[in-house]
Amino acid sequence: MNIHEPKVVLAKKSGFCFGVKRAVDLALKTSGPIFTLGPLIHNPQVIARLEDKGVRSVESLDQVEGGRLIIRAHGIPRSIVSEAETRGLTVIDATCPFVRKVQQTAQSMSREGYQVVIIGEANHPEVIGIADRVDRPIILETLAQAAALGRYLRIGVVAQTTQSEESYRAIVRELKKHTKAMKVADTICNATKKNQEAAKALAERVEVMIVVGGYNSGNTRRLAGLCSAIVTTHHIEVAGELQAVWFEGKTSVGVTGGASTPDWIIKDIVERIEHGF
Ligand code: F3S
Repeated sequence: MNIHEPKVVLAKKSGFCFGVKRAVDLALKTSGPIFTLGPLIHNPQVIARLEDKGVRSVESLDQVEGGRLIIRAHGIPRSIVSEAETRGLTVIDATCPFVRKVQQTAQSMSREGYQVVIIGEANHPEVIGIADRVDRPIILETLAQAAALGRYLRIGVVAQTTQSEESYRAIVRELKKHTKAMKVADTICNATKKNQEAAKALAERVEVMIVVGGYNSGNTRRLAGLCSAIVTTHHIEVAGELQAVWFEGKTSVGVTGGASTPDWIIKDIVERIEHGF
């Protein structure tokens, strides 16, 4: 960049959450061939790096010919784990400990005779993995769905880790009308929320925001959306997409990354803006 370099500020919290970092590190340090059911993470650059290390994403166990299977951070149903073991695969469990906790909580509520209600997206792999550990689970996402439920002797409630707290609380209030005995587990992980709060706070005090992460990453797109409501924002995947014109006349730039964006990409972008590209 030929113009004056603006001051670059990194969001107080950005990039990989604990569970994703753990899963990627586990995959990188395991020797191949390694398979994952679905991409380990929604970031093309990390996926390319993993592929170089022999980590391949497949859609079903039928595509796996020996090797190791890494369970992704949001977990999988037990039936798939047993099937993989039956097929002679070594299973490496990278389920995020917070997700594991939800699975265990739901399972013990179910064993204690509670009707388990999972608040989350029915088609999300994390919810599918939780539901698999429960007897006749009810999955719901909206207040209207909760209101339409009948009455139950006992209800146990857990949430998909990425649910919004406001809507979780509202649904829990509704569910209380449907039983006399209710157990509610606090299973929301605030890693995403902390990234969002830090990004918004930064967007308030800079002239332009750069949000880094996969175009296929839902949480990165959400971050970009939140920031663009506050200040001019550009969502990019890699430093090569930076354009000098974005920084002309600007004195401050904020940078953040989604929960699936690795530190090395964020760092590269910060350095390029600071020292020219
Ligand atoms: Fe785990 Fe929370 Fe990340 S549940 S995978 S640390 S968003």
